[in-house]
Amino acid sequence: MNIRHITTSPFSDQKPGTSGLRKKVQIFQQPHYLENFIQSLFDTLPEPTQADILIIGGDGRYYNRQAIQIILKMAIANGFHHILIGQHGLVSTPAMSAQIRKYQALCGIILSASHNPGGPDGDFGVKFNLRNGGPAPEKFTDAVYEAACTIKEYCLFECDDIDIDSLAEIQINETHIEIIDTVSNYADFMQHLFDFDAIRALFKSGRFHMLFDAMHAVTGPYAKELLQRRLGATEDTVLNAIPEEDFGGGHPDPNLLHAHKLVARLFGANPPDFGAASDGDGDRNMILGRHIFVTPSDSLAVMAANIHHLPGYRAGLAGVARSMPTSRAVDKVAEALGVECYETPTGWKFFGNLLDAHKITLCGEESFGNGSDHIREKDGLWAVLFWLNLIALRQQPVREIMREHWRRFGRHYYSRHDYEEVDSHAAESLMTHLREQLDSLPGRHFGDYQLQSCDDFCYTDPVDNSISEHQGLRFLFADGSRIVFRLSGTGTRGATLRVYLERYELDPEKHQLDTQQTLAPLIQIAEDLARIQHFTCREKPSVIT
Ligand code: G1P
Ligand code: ZN
Repeated sequence: MNIRHITTSPFSDQKPGTSGLRKKVQIFQQPHYLENFIQSLFDTLPEPTQADILIIGGDGRYYNRQAIQIILKMAIANGFHHILIGQHGLVSTPAMSAQIRKYQALCGIILSASHNPGGPDGDFGVKFNLRNGGPAPEKFTDAVYEAACTIKEYCLFECDDIDIDSLAEIQINETHIEIIDTVSNYADFMQHLFDFDAIRALFKSGRFHMLFDAMHAVTGPYAKELLQRRLGATEDTVLNAIPEEDFGGGHPDPNLLHAHKLVARLFGANPPDFGAASDGDGDRNMILGRHIFVTPSDSLAVMAANIHHLPGYRAGLAGVARSMPTSRAVDKVAEALGVECYETPTGWKFFGNLLDAHKITLCGEESFGNGSDHIREKDGLWAVLFWLNLIALRQQPVREIMREHWRRFGRHYYSRHDYEEVDSHAAESLMTHLREQLDSLPGRHFGDYQLQSCDDFCYTDPVDNSISEHQGLRFLFADGSRIVFRLSGTGTRGATLRVYLERYELDPEKHQLDTQQTLAPLIQIAEDLARIQHFTCREKPSVIT
């Protein structure tokens, strides 16, 4: 047998966060670093039986291929009998979730740092999803961390690197390995959820043109298959379609800043009718129409209001959920439809229990993430297909769909201001400063705005009753406006302060100003409350979305 047992000692920084273990590439490249973490994962999983499947794939970023070879050899040595690998080592996060559910796999390992930049100086990450297709719960990730803190040895099967580029089945030792085409699997799956005939007719009419920016990340092949091959969009539809190890030097985050070239096309002369983008690992999405950006919060609300028209969702909504900082646009829809709307802490994992318990059909976050009960991750291309299906059915441009929605439910002007790479102590002090005021503020006037209530958001999971405290500070005003402050849990350098601003207007035509101007009074109140400039030493946010 070619199994080698290698002596090692723990690293102190292997505690997985909300999105797995995410670090600089150089950290992952240290001897034993990845190996220790993967061995700790394998030691935490139940012993694999003959029937248990492991799936491996990533977003194609730098170190993806090397990591896959290491994990593969470790998985063989650890007695996995059946391993599936995405061709070229690529599997988007939503496709992974779909594959796990399809094959009822024991575990899926996703190599990605999501929307963080890649390349030798960029970030790398390891996430693992369990049988339901969703990210492992905290109990499990804590156990992996415990194992990583005491690890003494890992094992590796010694063999040549395995060809992961050709679709093939390979037998090594006791292990059956299959290189699979997750692109066509995922496209088949989408075909069941949406009305492909209607979307095909839309493209065929010649009156509809769209652009999809894959940002040189994982969704390129998926988008080409779906939009161009199966739905008949023109060959120039998918931009930056080839996944690259450094995402073409860009930042694969589909927002107004990082996808600015696409945004410029949609807001420029002769814009296409529809624009969309997704992130490094394909779970985020951005939706644009001609001269209009649909906020992810609004996108969720529009989906909720229209979902029953789509083939995969004829039964309508069981309920909806949004992360706490996401605007309350979807709450209005849920209220009108008479379904429950759950408010969860930031992070997709909180939706998992609600989805598994069939309490919700649809969920989303302001951070460009929407999804449904079809998988247990957010899903970028799914959201794009949702919008395409909607446009095809309603035969209306995006702007008109939004206008009608706002006329019916009112409009939530919304923006997020991020202060990135702030000194961690300073950011903590700002939050403490805010917390200390919570009791004294309700009732106070800030210009025209009266503060109604404020709190430190605490969530009790309605399924397992687990409690998550300190999930962000909420300030609610009498007119329905809201400001939320929280610190990011995903940054890899310093702290990131996020300020979420929301203003509700029943009459959507009332403000002719742009969003930032409409929100200006609330932006000032946020400064007054938190003394942002004082604590962060910044005059303005690093990113405004
Ligand atoms: C961010 C987003 C959050 C999302 C997470 C993972 O987390 O805000 O909604 O679930 O990335 O994609 P944060 O950095 O704010 O903790
Ligand atoms: Zn992502």
